[in-house]
Amino acid sequence: MLGPAIPYRPGRQDRDVAACTPDGRLPDASKAQDHIRNIFYRMGFNDQEIVALAGAHALGRCHTDRSGYDGPWTFSPTVMTNDYFKLLIEEKWQWKKWNGPKQYEDKKTKSLMMLPADIALIQDKKFTEWVKKYAADNDLFFKDFANVIVKLFELGVPFKEGTERWVFKTSA
Ligand code: HEM
Repeated sequence: MLGPAIPYRPGRQDRDVAACTPDGRLPDASKAQDHIRNIFYRMGFNDQEIVALAGAHALGRCHTDRSGYDGPWTFSPTVMTNDYFKLLIEEKWQWKKWNGPKQYEDKKTKSLMMLPADIALIQDKKFTEWVKKYAADNDLFFKDFANVIVKLFELGVPFKEGTERWVFKTSA
């Protein structure tokens, strides 16, 4: 997907269903900055890391038959870019008029979407500082994203001592 190389190390183990966290721990897309901070601070992430992680919404889309929300965040949802941040800042976002959960659409093309939790990133001063930095500097976003996604992937994993991280080579 042309994003940064993400180092990986084996160690996460299958666990019994009894070891699963209770429901209700995932971020709620209909909520704003206080909720987002509660979810991510509990896992040890700061504001900069929260914003960097959200940049993953450059990829993929929402599906009406899953979350109920609809549409992609960017025009190139199979390519990793900092477009999510650029679009957040540069486009005008308005409520989508439809028979579904409350979400935003871009005023210009009405083909992109933002969740209320995405728009919270430009409604909060501290979050917005990072949105602007990542919109202006793709290299900085890639560097910070690689670091923070490794932190997320490795949270709570009981690595054996000396387990090294691997970086898979790509042709790009
Ligand atoms: C405030 C935090 C977040 C909220 C509220 C949120 C919410 C959502 C929702 C509602 C969807 C649509 C699911 C569907 O309908 O299929 C989605 C998709 C997605 N999210 Fe997030 N998300 C958050 C954080 C993250 C993080 C931290 C990552 C990864 C680092 C991430 C990566 C993705 C990706 C790649 C998709 C697209 C999946 C697909 O195309 O099927 N999100 N998110």
